[in-house]
Amino acid sequence: MAHLNDNFLKLKAGYLFPEIARRVNAFCEADAAGKARLIRCGIGDVTEALPKSITAALHKAVDEMAERGSFRGYGPEQGYAFLRDAIAKNDFTDRGVEVYADEIFVSDGSKCDCGNILDILGHDNRIGVSDPVYPVYVDTNVMAGHTGDADSNGAYAGITYLVCNEANGFTPSPPTDGTKLDVVYLCSPNNPTGAVATRAQLTAWVEYAQKNDTLILFDAAYEAFIADPAIPRSIFEIPGARKCAIEFRSFSKSAGFTGVRCAFTVVPKELTAKAKDGSRQPLHPLWNRRMCTKFNGVSYIVQRAAEAVYSPEGKAECKTLIEHYMGNAKILREGAAKAGLKVFGGVNAPYVWVKAPAGYTSWQIFDKFLNEANVVITPGSGFGSAGEGYFRVSAFNSRANAEEVARRIQALKF
Ligand code: MLT
Repeated sequence: MAHLNDNFLKLKAGYLFPEIARRVNAFCEADAAGKARLIRCGIGDVTEALPKSITAALHKAVDEMAERGSFRGYGPEQGYAFLRDAIAKNDFTDRGVEVYADEIFVSDGSKCDCGNILDILGHDNRIGVSDPVYPVYVDTNVMAGHTGDADSNGAYAGITYLVCNEANGFTPSPPTDGTKLDVVYLCSPNNPTGAVATRAQLTAWVEYAQKNDTLILFDAAYEAFIADPAIPRSIFEIPGARKCAIEFRSFSKSAGFTGVRCAFTVVPKELTAKAKDGSRQPLHPLWNRRMCTKFNGVSYIVQRAAEAVYSPEGKAECKTLIEHYMGNAKILREGAAKAGLKVFGGVNAPYVWVKAPAGYTSWQIFDKFLNEANVVITPGSGFGSAGEGYFRVSAFNSRANAEEVARRIQALKF
């Protein structure tokens, strides 16, 4: 008899986005005549076409695959040197950040890497996450058996939740009550709140990590949206981080790759963790071993497309793409503010985090937006109990849709 992984049975009703999809599908079925012009600002999925330099690189790579002499089979599991070198130079070295090409592992997505990283970590770590939180960090730990059951608020036993609210600007500070986290997930720019961590805040986290032997899992998937030059774009800008952090990056939002699939994870060579026998072992060879065993690399075609992101044309086109989405964020922020709502984020991040009007829960405001404005948003409580009373509006949309959503928000009666 095959036994299942019982940890999956601990998961709450479903991953947030499938639950949103269920409600939206029910709405669409009820609107069979298609009268409502639904605008989706729920899941953060890019809407604009791939930049020309990227599609040109894709076409060229496809043509290479059509010729016996230039055809490629399996590539290196860690990624081709041409892409790892381009990433190291453009994202790190040119910005004065110490990260080497052989510390970069190219993958098919940050979500996958955030979950897969648990393969190389032990089962007894004390895990810290912010609340609200990107659900993947929590659910992958539940699946791996690192938690107990969820309570009535959806909080899992065994996970330390660091509450993020208006008082702390939605950025968690390291625990001051003596709590020693073994692993902590930090996400800046933050999904879902759109908050960004300052250099001082990240320095406090690195100092905490050094003192408590904590591993920081730093999700920088949205770094390209940072407009403020004072905000760090990488945890490795902080002295000491190479010894205590892993960073996740993605081309999904910065270059429109959600349907193309390419990301990377940086594991510095100095980074170590404790083995059961008490010795300290580097994590880089473990992650390398994991990737070589369970992954055959991202396709050559896609890696050539990712390389094109760093060409002069690619950089200019991706900048335009980001400016487009951030223009939407501004319109959505201003629209919600004019409607009398309290607005956060959306300045260095493509997510606008909005306080629901008094008396509305997150799901109630979700239903109101869906039924009365025909706009899909994401209920804040889906990201954790501290997200209750808030909702997230994604700026990934056309300009016309962003403007229309801003109008519809202002037309709502609360
Ligand atoms: C979101 O809406 O939070 C993102 O699309 C999720 C993701 O990137 O996996």
